[in-house]
Amino acid sequence: MIGQLDRLLEQLDTLRARAIEQLAAITTQTELKEWDTRYLGRKNGALTALRPAMQALSQDERRIVGQKYNAVKSELEQLLATKRETTRQQAMLQSLMQEGIDVTLGGHSVSPGHMHLISRTALEMARIFSNMGFQIRLGSEIETDYYNFRALNFPVDHPARDMQDTFWVAPGEILLRTQTSSMQIHTMTQMRPPVRVATWGRVYRNETINVSNAAMLHQFECFIVDEQCTMANLKGCLQHFIARMFGPERRIRFRGSYFPFTEPSAELDISCGICGGTGCSTCKHTGWLELLGCGMIHPNVLREVGYDPKKYRGFAFGAGVERIAMAKYAISDIRTFTTNDLRMLQQF
Ligand code: DAH
Repeated sequence: MIGQLDRLLEQLDTLRARAIEQLAAITTQTELKEWDTRYLGRKNGALTALRPAMQALSQDERRIVGQKYNAVKSELEQLLATKRETTRQQAMLQSLMQEGIDVTLGGHSVSPGHMHLISRTALEMARIFSNMGFQIRLGSEIETDYYNFRALNFPVDHPARDMQDTFWVAPGEILLRTQTSSMQIHTMTQMRPPVRVATWGRVYRNETINVSNAAMLHQFECFIVDEQCTMANLKGCLQHFIARMFGPERRIRFRGSYFPFTEPSAELDISCGICGGTGCSTCKHTGWLELLGCGMIHPNVLREVGYDPKKYRGFAFGAGVERIAMAKYAISDIRTFTTNDLRMLQQF
């Protein structure tokens, strides 16, 4: 008959064998925790469960079982510690494999921005005029009535003011400049002749927006004051600019016009780049596009800045940068510059 001692020793062996077998199959930390509780748990673990039976043995028997008990317990604890470490490493390895970067995958391309067509056009103009000896000066978009109108020979209540619908900041006195011609006055009051200056920037008009009118646009303006200065110089300067900017095949023509600050005044037209001058909807079937205003600086303007009109002459011209870009790149709607359509912007 098997005694209590043998039974307990046998139970310990069985328990040890089962525990080791199960431990070998474990792959996750959760399973490992369950195993720990099941066999080594202090309260309801399988080892602890043998203790009451051990208490019932004689002292000698208890010592024998006790030794085996302790040996099994410490062996299982040791195995647990080892297994804990290997599962931890495996878990780490697995997550590294899952989160690993596949360097053979194609990346997301980042498209770099670039300069807007209007800025590019203005800078291209600035380069051409700077090579011709013009000095570049930039001014403020907020102006007084004096610099934008009065000093440019637009008397108060003069009908020519209606040509440029104005955004007033302080009615009658401060405004958003309607033209870069205001820089003629700033420059000439600061310098003595010879003056040869080019400027560009934003101007504002209280306009109804459509294919050819915008409430905010850019102008490029040049002017010269010297003792020797004629309409022929103006023409030569513009011819050179047009050839450099548009190429030699575009034709130009001058048409008499009116501006308060020039006398005589003219407008420069360029042959339409879309139809080549034969007539199309963009040039309203005339074969020509209006490009800029120009003229000889009015003696009243020279007098206003303290230059003697008997001694000095000047010429000036002002162009919409949008209009130049439209004529150069065959763009028929001025609004395309500000609608931020990448399909349009990325072409330039
Ligand atoms: N400032 C004029 C405008 O905005 C354009 C202009 C015409 C400028 C003739 C000039 C000029 O310098 O001489 O309509």
